[in-house]
Amino acid sequence: MMSSTIERNGSIMGFGNCINYRQELGVGLPIDVDKGRPLVIAHPAAGIYYHSSMSLFEDTKHPFLHVMVDYGDYYPNTYPYVVDCANYALYHRLPDSSLGHNVFRKASISTPHWQMHVIGEAYEFLSKAPPLDILYVDWFTWLDEFIVKPETSFCDMMSHYIHKIRDGGLIIIDDKHENIEQWNNYPKERTKITNDSEIEYLCHIEWLGTNWQDEMTTYSAKVLKVHHNLESKLGQKNWFEEIKKWFWTSIPEFALNKSQIEKMIENKQEESIHHLAVTWNDWHDTWRDVYMDLERPVLQPIPPFKAWPRNSYLEYLKWLKEHPKLLFEKLQKRTL
Ligand SMILES: C[S@@+](CC[C@H](N)C(=O)[O-])C[C@H]1O[C@@H](n2cnc3c(N)ncnc32)[C@H](O)[C@@H]1O
Repeated sequence: MMSSTIERNGSIMGFGNCINYRQELGVGLPIDVDKGRPLVIAHPAAGIYYHSSMSLFEDTKHPFLHVMVDYGDYYPNTYPYVVDCANYALYHRLPDSSLGHNVFRKASISTPHWQMHVIGEAYEFLSKAPPLDILYVDWFTWLDEFIVKPETSFCDMMSHYIHKIRDGGLIIIDDKHENIEQWNNYPKERTKITNDSEIEYLCHIEWLGTNWQDEMTTYSAKVLKVHHNLESKLGQKNWFEEIKKWFWTSIPEFALNKSQIEKMIENKQEESIHHLAVTWNDWHDTWRDVYMDLERPVLQPIPPFKAWPRNSYLEYLKWLKEHPKLLFEKLQKRTL
C-alpha cells in the first residue's frame, strides 16, 4: 500500500503563491507542509539560476532552508553581485554552517530563511545529507550517469535519489531546459520507480520572481509527488527527525537549547552576521576614505543596513521557543 498524504484535489489553495494548472486553475504548490519546522529545498547545480527556486518560496511566509550545491561559488556577495538597480546588495551574509558552508539571507524578508551554498559535487553531497521536502532541479548532470535507457532516463536518474525525498515531498522540474528530452521524460502516470517508491505527475506551475539582475521574470515548472510504500522502511521513517538534522549543522540558533533561546529573548538579542561580511559602516568608511577622491570609483555593492527587518530576528527566536522539538536536545549526563 502506498502512502495517503492529504490530497488537495478539489481545493484550489496549495502552499505559496504560484499558479497551478491541475484540473482547474489553482494557487500554490500541492504539498502538505509541517507548520512546526522550516521546509528544506535543494536546488543542485543551480549556478546563478537559484533565483528561480528562491522566488517560489520567498513569499510563502513559511521558514525555509534553501540548499545550493555546485562546483562553483555562486554566492550573492561575489561577482556578479546580487544587487538592485541602485547597487544595494539584496542579501546579507550570516554565520557559516558548522561545516563551513557560506549562508545568506535576503535582508528585506521577515520570514526566517537561510540560503546555504555548498561547494562540491551535488550527488556526493546530497546522497549523504539528510532528506529533503523538495528537490528543485533544472540541470541533471549530477544524476545522468545513472541513465540506463533513453526511454526510462528520468526514472533511472530519480531511482537513485528518491529515498532522500520525504513521503509526500515534491520533485520540481524547472522548464528552463525542457528541450533536453532525457531530463524531461518523466512518466505522465503514477509510476513505480524502485521497489518501495513511486512518482506521480501532479501539475504545471508558473510564478513571478526576480532574476540575477533583479528583473521581474516569469518562471514555470512541472511538479511531481513522491510516494513511499507504507510497509517499507521508507514508509516507516520518521521524516521529521531525519529532516531536523539539517538545522543543527546549518543554523546556529537551532543548536542551542530552550533556556539559551529564552535568555536571548530576555536580552532582546540582536542578530549576528558573518565576521567578514561588509557592514554598512565599513562601506561608508571606505567611501569616505578611499573612493571620494577617485574620479570614477568602482563601487562595491552597498550592504543592507541589517540582515533581518526590524523585530523579525526576535520574532524568529520566539518562534523557535515555541518549537522546542527543533532545538538541540540536552545531553543526558551519566553522573549528577
Ligand atoms: C550550465 S550551468 C546551468 C546553471 C543553471 N542550473 C541553469 O540551468 O541555467 C551548469 C551548472 O551546474 C554545475 N554542475 C554541473 N554538474 C555538477 C555536479 N555534478 N555537481 C555540482 N555542480 C554541478 C556547474 O558548476 C554549473 O554551475
